[in-house]
Amino acid sequence: MQTSTNQSLRPLTTKINDKGNLEIGGCDTVELAEKYGTPLYVIDEFTLRSVCRDYNKAFSSYDKVKLLYASKALCSMATSSVISSEGFGFDAVSGGEIYTVYKSGVPMEKVLFNGNNKSADELLLALDLGVGRISVDNFFELALLDELAKSKNKKVDILLRITPGIECHTHEYIQTGHLDSKFGFDLTQTDEAIELILNTYSALNLKGLHAHIGSQIFETKVYDDEIEILVKEIARINDKFGLNLDEINIGGGLGVKYTENDMPPSVYEIAEIIINRLKSAVQKYNISEPILYLEPGRSIISTSGVTLYTFGSSKQVPHGKKYVAVDGGMADNARPSMYQAEYSAVIANKPEDECLQNVTIAGRFCESGDILIKSVDLPEITDGDILCVFNTGAYNYSMASNYNRVEKSAMVLVNNSQSDIIINRETLDDLVSHDIIPDRLRANV
Ligand code: LLP
Repeated sequence: MQTSTNQSLRPLTTKINDKGNLEIGGCDTVELAEKYGTPLYVIDEFTLRSVCRDYNKAFSSYDKVKLLYASKALCSMATSSVISSEGFGFDAVSGGEIYTVYKSGVPMEKVLFNGNNKSADELLLALDLGVGRISVDNFFELALLDELAKSKNKKVDILLRITPGIECHTHEYIQTGHLDSKFGFDLTQTDEAIELILNTYSALNLKGLHAHIGSQIFETKVYDDEIEILVKEIARINDKFGLNLDEINIGGGLGVKYTENDMPPSVYEIAEIIINRLKSAVQKYNISEPILYLEPGRSIISTSGVTLYTFGSSKQVPHGKKYVAVDGGMADNARPSMYQAEYSAVIANKPEDECLQNVTIAGRFCESGDILIKSVDLPEITDGDILCVFNTGAYNYSMASNYNRVEKSAMVLVNNSQSDIIINRETLDDLVSHDIIPDRLRANV
């Protein structure tokens, strides 16, 4: 089976250059760190385009496929325009994500709006900008969206988010398809929802069903099961209500390779399983071939991203661990502290030196749990050395915070030996720019 980009630990353009430094996208990572400062998120455009092309190619035999990128993995105007130029639409889960993809020039009919508690303001923004689909998550939202759409004299195309009852083996916090999940209608509630849409909510136009079973998935059988459930449910609904629903959205979830031990399936393998199962289920349940939406996030953006840090202090615990600290941590990458996520790293200015010691890479935030990598073999480290952590494109910047009032890091896009800043580093003034001291307090200062 053909391999795909999500199976690579490092960006595809990663090399050692003639200075002996790590190079990505033709750019020396040590020079990037000097020029833009650290921590620095780096996105390799070639790798990003390459995985988009893997998806396009892998699903090309099913002509009713619509690939949406789940922006929650990383949402920026520059990355959105790259992904859009590869033919993808977008799954957005907030007004902020909708607005970002809108500002980056994405056609709004290629956007699907998801989420379990969308606000009235966010739904109005979606209606005003004309997003293509809204995936309605619950009864409360059905009523709210119908009311808002009527107030705008609009009819809105929707999918119903359902909970298919599939457990996949991933971290508990990123499982979503199991029965007691907070997301979507239980299968026992879909008929009631459809009756309301048909009889009461005349501004809503039901097009199909949506599900998402979890994230960082390595098993392939779960997709098989999910398609069977969605197609069976569509056939049952069409039959019972005399409808002709012809859209299914199977969500995202395909895993990536954070460490040498991770063996995610290739996009081609997943595509074959999904398409074969879809075709056989369509025959079995006697429906016409539906439009198939996929909304991968992590597997699109993760591999293209690395983060560069600078080493500072270190501590050898007597008879214990050696901690070496970098200038970032849980505020730019929350995943190790939130999900016990593991990462791989090298020292960018000596990537080939022999790894003579095992160290724990500590973050700079004031919390014992701020450990970036628990155990990694590295060469001798001096302060000022640059650490490159791989596979940080997804759910790093998008989950970043200003914990400890630290400025959010910058992001650069590299390609063909060129680097462009795509997100500016926050400044101290940015940090205080939303603060207000009420006049009555000023008087006392
Ligand atoms: N569609 C829906 C409805 C989702 O909820 C998600 C992710 C996706 C698509 C994209 O899934 P992906 O292809 O990225 O696995 N912060 C966690 C991941 C949370 C995923 C939430 N939903 C992490 O850092 O691992």
